[in-house]
Amino acid sequence: ERISLHISIKVDERNIDVLIAPLDGLDNQVIGAIIVLQDITEMLHLEKVRSDFVANASHELKTPISAIRGLVETIIDDSSMDKSVLTTFLGRIQNQAIRLDTIVQDLIRLSRFDAQDTIRRDSNVNLSEIIRAVYKAKLEDAADSGVDLMLDIPSDSIVIQGESEALDQMVSNLVDNAIKYCGDDGKVELRLSRRGQMACIEVKDNGIGIPKEDQQRIFERFYRVDRGRSREQGGTGLGLSIVKHVVGSHHGEVTVRSGLDKGTVFEVRIPSTLVAVSE
Ligand SMILES: Nc1ncnc2c1ncn2[C@@H]1O[C@H](COP(=O)(O)OP(=O)(O)OP(=O)(O)O)[C@@H](O)[C@H]1O
Ligand SMILES: [Mg+2]
Repeated sequence: ERISLHISIKVDERNIDVLIAPLDGLDNQVIGAIIVLQDITEMLHLEKVRSDFVANASHELKTPISAIRGLVETIIDDSSMDKSVLTTFLGRIQNQAIRLDTIVQDLIRLSRFDAQDTIRRDSNVNLSEIIRAVYKAKLEDAADSGVDLMLDIPSDSIVIQGESEALDQMVSNLVDNAIKYCGDDGKVELRLSRRGQMACIEVKDNGIGIPKEDQQRIFERFYRVDRGRSREQGGTGLGLSIVKHVVGSHHGEVTVRSGLDKGTVFEVRIPSTLVAVSE
């Protein structure tokens, strides 16, 4: 009788898929067996990352949705609600809707990365202009949080090949974090410079800092240092994973220097003389 066997085994830390099947000779006689070994460790890991991602994303979306539902129910139930209370509630609903929008935008961007993992790098982008635009856009946020935001860019323009929208989002995310995680008397510096063939973007704050053991993990999707500490600030933990993707797809590198309560510097280096890659 013909039997093939399909089993999975674990060797050290690796998962191996084993398929054993009979090997037929010329006259349908079994003359041996074929054994196929396949290392499926990486595949299982990717499956787990994917299912964790869906679970985390659903959880993050649920929080603002529950808040909106609760607020709307209260408004509906209380027909004689005070005008000022109503205004407060509507403001909160608006904030939660904005939060939902941000999460969905981030998720869309990440899934676009996963789908193609490359970015249009076909156009020249003036990095100096992007940095200046982000600076202007964040001045009000900074002032609202009592943070002194400073800009330092060279007088001549630095141009790279890339996608301006993605680069804009990357710098915005770094500046958002710097403003969000710097304590009282906050100072944030946004700096652009040229180092040889590299364009260098630095975002420096004097805030709460990041413990050494978390410094690699902060670039993972949904990872947040000490949820208690981060929770009061609001956020999803997607910002830096987007930063890493954007920088990587521009052939650059992002590094972090930080210590607890010693402030943080994120440094992004991108080659400024990229040759356009034909697809
Ligand atoms: N400049 C910083 N200073 C201190 N901690 C930081 C700084 N930037 C990031 N972190 C830590 O790294 C974590 C991950 O940052 P990331 O930007 O990915 O997520 P987030 O800011 O929590 O949420 P999101 O950006 O999605 O709204 C943050 O939760 C925070 O704990
Ligand atoms: Mg962030």
